[in-house]
Amino acid sequence: MNVIVGKPLTRVDGRAKVTGGAQYAADFNQPGQLYAVIVSATVGLGRVSEIRSANIEAMPGVAAVITHSNAPKLPYLLHKGVIDPAVGERLHVLQDDAVRFFGQPVAIVVADSLDHAEHAAAALRIIYDARRPVVDHADPDVARIIPDAAGADRSRGDADAAVAEAAVTVDEHYDMARENHNPMEPHATIAAWNGDRLTLWSKSQFLMNEQAEIAAIFGLPAESVEVICPFIGGAFGTSLRTWPHVTLAALAAKHVQRPVKLVLTRKQMFFTTGHRPRSLQRVALGATQEGKLTGVIHEGTGETSRYEQFTEALTAVTDYLYSCPNVRTQYRLAPLDTGTPNHMRGPGEASGIFALESALDELSYKLGIDPIELRRRNEPQIDEAENKPFSSRSLIHCYELGAERFGWSRKTPEPRSMRDGRLLIGMGTATATYPAFHAPSNARVRLLADGTAEVEAAASDMGPGTYTSMTQVAAEFLGLQPAQVRFRLGTTDFPPTPSHGGSWTMTSVGSAIRAACLEAQFQAAKRAIADNGSPVFGASIDTIEWAEGRLRRRADASAGLSYQEILAKTGDPIEAEGSAQRDPEAAERYSMHSFGAVFAEVSIDPDVGTIRVRRLVGAYGIGRVVNPLLARSQCTGGMIGGMGMALMERTVLDARDGRPVNAHMADYLMPVNLDAPEMEALFVDEIDPHVNPLGVKGLGEIALVGTAPAIANAVFHATGKRVRTQPIKIEDILTA
Ligand code: MOS
Repeated sequence: MNVIVGKPLTRVDGRAKVTGGAQYAADFNQPGQLYAVIVSATVGLGRVSEIRSANIEAMPGVAAVITHSNAPKLPYLLHKGVIDPAVGERLHVLQDDAVRFFGQPVAIVVADSLDHAEHAAAALRIIYDARRPVVDHADPDVARIIPDAAGADRSRGDADAAVAEAAVTVDEHYDMARENHNPMEPHATIAAWNGDRLTLWSKSQFLMNEQAEIAAIFGLPAESVEVICPFIGGAFGTSLRTWPHVTLAALAAKHVQRPVKLVLTRKQMFFTTGHRPRSLQRVALGATQEGKLTGVIHEGTGETSRYEQFTEALTAVTDYLYSCPNVRTQYRLAPLDTGTPNHMRGPGEASGIFALESALDELSYKLGIDPIELRRRNEPQIDEAENKPFSSRSLIHCYELGAERFGWSRKTPEPRSMRDGRLLIGMGTATATYPAFHAPSNARVRLLADGTAEVEAAASDMGPGTYTSMTQVAAEFLGLQPAQVRFRLGTTDFPPTPSHGGSWTMTSVGSAIRAACLEAQFQAAKRAIADNGSPVFGASIDTIEWAEGRLRRRADASAGLSYQEILAKTGDPIEAEGSAQRDPEAAERYSMHSFGAVFAEVSIDPDVGTIRVRRLVGAYGIGRVVNPLLARSQCTGGMIGGMGMALMERTVLDARDGRPVNAHMADYLMPVNLDAPEMEALFVDEIDPHVNPLGVKGLGEIALVGTAPAIANAVFHATGKRVRTQPIKIEDILTA
């Protein structure tokens, strides 16, 4: 077999991206389109009592002002995609006068230009009957804490007794800030109706869900809605759900009977497109003097909205990460007057592991045991929560590889013991982990008469390089060169796939492409066998084989037949569909996760408390690496995200009205190129025959997970200050 998977192929869409040829949602301008601007509520709770729109409709270029009082009542049929919270009901936009959170859409203005629409939207007067919202889950007015969210609570042994009786304990609280995804590309939708058929050019990580959701809202069959999204300029989870602006674009286009373009402002991306919820957590560890964990307690409360229960994997990693007979995890939700949060890269895992890995680091100092040695002493033989073996687990190998490359042995154990001139130097490490998901997916392969192949799936590519990696998978299984394969994604007309999230695009769509390729080869072989002019004419299927994309009889040394030769007779292409899902038996038998070890070095100015991350090294066991260039890029991007979590990112709400006070790029801090440290991503050779036939576990989110605690642990090593809130701020370092 020619080996394409595993090669550092450069991005097949790289040229299109750097030359501007790649089209993003807002680039698909339609003839005759109008421009819509959302008017966002300026109070945090209450109702719209009056809308003064009469003079607005007469303003230059204005085509419509749509509010709850003149918007059509939409069917809003029941639709729960896998991405929607199981409990609660989505926001029904412009269907009543209620204001549930600050920034909720309360009107939409449509005009012949963006300027006219913005001008009119700014002039629209809306009078509210407002009340004080509850937006902080430390607020005593939080309605009711929801226990055992998502049925995630688990317990084995008696963790509370074990911690109480332990020789050495750590028992601390952690506070992770609310974050917003802030991709470069804003949410955007262009909607165009043709009779009862709707086309949406829309930024989406989940085309099939967007199609189903919008169809349900407008009471249409799904086939009447087409969603197109060939490129995404970053998303990190914010485009997994279909948010109200998509409905508004379609509603406005129907109202004015013209195509309508709607692009959210940066500020609006802090209102209605999800966020990483703030979480408050407690981790308590009990251990022997030798560093063997005897009890682990992890309690966490995440925020959600009042109208939906968004849940994430906040405490899930604690169940399986280390060996311990007594473990109790508890996950609760605090409903607030905000929009519903949603998945943001490493959703739950990244926040939860911060608490666990900070506590474990703290324990290592209490015990005087090196943090890597401490993890070695608690390395489980199996997943003790599920009571089954891991399909593969390379955590200790990752620690060894990472430590070697990072130079961990140069670390002196005492806090504040390393300096570079007047700067304090700190080294820290933490575990990374993420589930190896695999969702049912489909794909289609078309072998063309010229010997090339077209491959199609309704997937998205938000940046990981899906165009490239899927091209490699198809080339490998068809025995073609990557240049002979054209992979297309980004429309609901292609075979359905799961969401482009959960780090499962390669496991799911890649496996489906493999299946489709094998089916196409089977069809090609059948055609060749049936062709009386072919050298394999009449052969039985088990006496032939494919090698380098050529068909021949087994043990025949000749070159064999190419696809081109097989198709030459009729010229008809061969089209094959493939689908794949996880082998249920393997899923039953094995616990499937990726593991990694992250190392951070920081330098801190002791006088002014500024923290610089100097180096990050991540070592990962993710099964087979499809493309080391793309994999490295995924990991360094994720590490930068983790750095943002550790030191910068925080959405601050004004307690009086729920307004995000830093809803702009000047005050919502994120790492920029100048902040980027020296970064290395290493991959252990890991063969996992159980996860899927490709042997891939998926890559993306694990690279954010573990980075923030590695940095916080390095900050402690540098300063002796244990900061248990994220992000770590200068004042946390300076105050005693
Ligand atoms: Mo990711 S949070 O599944 O886009």
